[in-house]
Amino acid sequence: MATIDQDPGARVDEIAGGIYRISMPLPPSAVPGGFTLNQYLIVDDEPMLIHTGPRRLFPLLRSAVAHVMPVDGLRHVAFSHFEADECGALNELLAVAPNATPLCGRVAAMVSVEDYADRPPRALSDGETVSLGSHSVRWYDTPHLPHAWECGFLMETSTDTLLCGDLFTQGGLGDPPLTEADILEPSEAFRMGMDYFSHTRHARAMLDRLAEAKPTTLACMHGSAWRGDGAALLRALADRLDPQ
Ligand SMILES: [Fe+2]
Ligand SMILES: [Fe+2]
Repeated sequence: MATIDQDPGARVDEIAGGIYRISMPLPPSAVPGGFTLNQYLIVDDEPMLIHTGPRRLFPLLRSAVAHVMPVDGLRHVAFSHFEADECGALNELLAVAPNATPLCGRVAAMVSVEDYADRPPRALSDGETVSLGSHSVRWYDTPHLPHAWECGFLMETSTDTLLCGDLFTQGGLGDPPLTEADILEPSEAFRMGMDYFSHTRHARAMLDRLAEAKPTTLACMHGSAWRGDGAALLRALADRLDPQ
């Protein structure tokens, strides 16, 4: 574990082989109870950063990435959907990582990223895989799960890590970085308070499909990452969203 800068500071932890969680806390003075913005860095022949954090926190993100590897060595900057915490600092990153390409789903590219990004994105189709070297990621389209038409998730198949974005969002300061304790109830409490899920009728089918990939680590964007039977947890979430 490393702590980068002070106040607010970022925390960097390896949560699966070659996958680092960069957690930037928002203090209780900014968000009641505190909140975390997590980026994940996959270190490999073609390093990938998943999520950039907001533009105003870019200096902190840059320091945190540099703690693990040279920022200009990044090759891919991926994100689940088009919101400031997912990709607000995209252009700042592209400016300091000249060989990095934005990577997102086809809908995100079409509706936002081809216009917004300073370099053209690589738009992934549902099921498409990208080899990073010893790691490999597969893109899943998940429209409106939990929100945004363009939403999707990456599954890293060598470590069975699902980069699950805003699914299982937990409030608080994200301790510990990786937990085996229950995250469904805390994330359900957060969902009840914020109503940040869409009301798509296809949540169960999409969650079943993610469950079939059998992730053993869920790399949550907000809160602790989690280790355990990811298929069971995804199906438990489907039961909450779509009681049978
Ligand atoms: Fe979001
Ligand atoms: Fe998010």
